[in-house]
Amino acid sequence: MKDLLSWDQTLFKDSELFELDHVPEHFLHRDAQLQALMYCIRPAFGGSHPLNSLCIGAPGTGKTTAVFKIFEEIEKHTPKIVPVVVNCQVNSTKYAVFSQIFKKLVGFAPPASGVSFKKVFGEVAKYLAEREKVLVVALDDMNYLFYENEANEVLYPLLRAHETHPGARVGVVAILSDTGVPHILDPKVESVFLPEEIKFPQYSSGEIRDILSNRAKLGFYPNVLDNSVLERITEHTSALGDLRVGIDLLKRAGLNAERRAGRTIVLEDVESAYEKSRLVHLSYVMRALKPDEKLLLGLIVDSPQSNSGELYEKFHEKTALGYTRFYEMLNKLGSVKLIDADFTGKGARGRSRVVTLRYQPGEVRARL
Ligand SMILES: Nc1ncnc2c1ncn2[C@@H]1O[C@H](COP(=O)(O)OP(=O)(O)O)[C@@H](O)[C@H]1O
Ligand SMILES: [Mg+2]
Repeated sequence: MKDLLSWDQTLFKDSELFELDHVPEHFLHRDAQLQALMYCIRPAFGGSHPLNSLCIGAPGTGKTTAVFKIFEEIEKHTPKIVPVVVNCQVNSTKYAVFSQIFKKLVGFAPPASGVSFKKVFGEVAKYLAEREKVLVVALDDMNYLFYENEANEVLYPLLRAHETHPGARVGVVAILSDTGVPHILDPKVESVFLPEEIKFPQYSSGEIRDILSNRAKLGFYPNVLDNSVLERITEHTSALGDLRVGIDLLKRAGLNAERRAGRTIVLEDVESAYEKSRLVHLSYVMRALKPDEKLLLGLIVDSPQSNSGELYEKFHEKTALGYTRFYEMLNKLGSVKLIDADFTGKGARGRSRVVTLRYQPGEVRARL
């Protein structure tokens, strides 16, 4: 037992750097997005309404991290702005979102039941107006509010707070983990939301290499990771386009090396780690699919090499949805890298594209 626990052989200088919720000190290749966010929030420093913004991009492109970095800065510089990040995957109702805001302002959460939304909202707005504070709410993974049909319900009171409670100033940073399909808001919400769109494109291989190399330098002891191994990790990460995969790979490959008492990480450590790390992306993406998208994915799982025409027939039979929706969803599943759908034909082959699942059917089924 004593031997098993002697960690003097560890390769990790600071294992915290390989945790997915770690907010990195060095946030590379996102200056334009950070500047755009700051531009939107800047009016709040003078006590005015911030501009609303919409951060949009695929999973693992740094959206959440960018907002955390900006909010950290704001909190350091002024007590006049109160930034709140609400994780909408966990807080997917109007009441839950406003409870989080209330908690940040007042220091404790309102009771989970027995208090009306109106009361909680009223307290929040009153607090802001009386203390002359500007609230900036980031709705992280706001997709979940759309699935629960709560997006309009949450945005409307936030955006109209200054009308119902004069002096209350609120800005919204909406964070959407998405690619193709637009989310539609009520016109009355849309007309007051008017966000500045901030795009988070996928990182290039070079950028991924840079970011992972920096992480490894800080997290591992010197000479643990050589360039050829970093290169392999970069390739695996680029293939899925999700930086989470790369960070998880660094961690698991390091642990694999330690397990065999190695002093450096070798390619085999990476390959065996990849079996698990690639599922990080799968789980993350699948959690955020809508019911209809899951249904379509289920059909693809049942026949992993199908033709898009046949697939549409089955899909239409089950959902009564038309070809346009089907086509949008197919594109979405392709852009989050769950399937390959031979997108090169640009419609020339029309309905006869071959749709291939990029994971083992069992791996996907287990998450449906
Ligand atoms: N530009 C970057 N520099 C350093 N680390 C990054 C960068 N972008 C993303 N990361 C890391 O990648 C992971 C995923 O980033 P995250 O901000 O959660 O992505 P998203 O919210 O777009 O899905 C996090 O662990 C984060 O620390
Ligand atoms: Mg995120």
